[in-house]
Amino acid sequence: MARNESGLMEKLVSLCKRRGYIFPSSEIYGGLESCWDYGPLGAELKRNLKDFWWKSMTMKRDDIEGLDASILMHPRVWEASGHLTSFTDPMVDCKTCGTRFRADSLEAETCPMKPSKSPLECGGELTEARNFNLMFKTFMGPVEDESAVIYLRPETAQGIYVNFHNVQKPSRQKIPFGIAQIGKAFRNEITTKNFIFRTREFEQMEMQYFIHPSEDEKWFEYWRDQRLKFYHDLGINPEKLHLKEHGPDDLAHYAKRAVDIEYEFPFGIKELEGIHNRTDYDLSHHQETCGKDLRFFDQVRNERYLPYIIETSAGCDRTILVVLLDAYHEEEVKGEKRVVLKINPRLAPVKVGVFPLVKKEGMPEIALDIYHNLKKHYKCFYDDGGAVGRRYRRQDEAGTPYCVTVDGQTKEDNTVTVRERDSMEQIRLKVDDLVAEFRNKLEF
Ligand code: GAP
Repeated sequence: MARNESGLMEKLVSLCKRRGYIFPSSEIYGGLESCWDYGPLGAELKRNLKDFWWKSMTMKRDDIEGLDASILMHPRVWEASGHLTSFTDPMVDCKTCGTRFRADSLEAETCPMKPSKSPLECGGELTEARNFNLMFKTFMGPVEDESAVIYLRPETAQGIYVNFHNVQKPSRQKIPFGIAQIGKAFRNEITTKNFIFRTREFEQMEMQYFIHPSEDEKWFEYWRDQRLKFYHDLGINPEKLHLKEHGPDDLAHYAKRAVDIEYEFPFGIKELEGIHNRTDYDLSHHQETCGKDLRFFDQVRNERYLPYIIETSAGCDRTILVVLLDAYHEEEVKGEKRVVLKINPRLAPVKVGVFPLVKKEGMPEIALDIYHNLKKHYKCFYDDGGAVGRRYRRQDEAGTPYCVTVDGQTKEDNTVTVRERDSMEQIRLKVDDLVAEFRNKLEF
């Protein structure tokens, strides 16, 4: 059931551009379809999200190691993984306007000539459906022939599978254990829309958990629950998050069982993250294709076997969209509209705005001192331009959780006001206590 939030996406896209969160790639040339650039606030938000995920996977746990594998991989990886033959979407062309659509979602597409209609209703004649491989192809080296064809990875997961032993041996991990990775993936999607929801270049945060085959159900359910909890910890409204188990016809070519964590986007309930039981599909296919023994010797069980893999695969950009949509609020304050991004303070790009109440009586000097001290610990922003109310509003729109204001009393008792973004409540705190006070609220 779609939420009645007409205009929310447009408002968010406009705020993202205005505040320097996210804007079209190569905009001065008219933009490049489905490619987006993260500006100063967007880049900070993305870094914080990735840190949050990375820490939850690799630092807070002893059973998960990190990896940063290359984007370009041996072309036989994609033969073994099944992507060369199975990573396809069915597509049709409209003989009238020449537009290409995904054949399996024609009801959800819009005709570019009659935007109120789908290609099923606009009267254009469609070709027969044919399969289109979503991998981007390029050439490695100076000769552009078949033997030089190479692909941009369509998922980060394969970098983990081919490095299973390279990570397990030096880290001396025993099954069950996991490998986590954050990185770019590329898919030549037939249709892209909805801002950063579906793009051709995006980042994934994937973790592959290697287990004994007899324990696949237990670990699948464990990771499903852990991953849902992650979004609760991010501060996403739990009522807008759903779990959707895949039926036998929806399963990807590698999966025995799959569940999506979904979110109620303004354009419908859609996938945010996939959790898959990939069995030994990937390791067995790589073993067969490369001819090397990829089994693990389990000393406890005294058994050599190919582990099963439970995969958790989150889209970084899609999670950013969820964080921003969930945070966007419009409120009426004293007869005026306030736009505020209620982002979890731990994720917020700028943590503290620092202001002098007025640009005189020594207040800017004290405020700058506080700013320089706080910015050793957190991303801060100093602002002395315009009325203080307007400065609060600017930080509300940027999602800054706290604002510190130096006023006349500061010189007398070394205290400042600290204003909290969501409640707009102000309390007085000693300047010397600020770092410790924010540490409790901001670190994860
Ligand atoms: N390794 C498994 C895998 O890649 P997936 O369900 O195809 O599974 C996982 O992708 C996640 O990656 C999705 O839930 C989504 O968040 C993100 N994702 C996939 N395709 C995307 C695209 N074209 N644009 C943005 N994010 C995408």
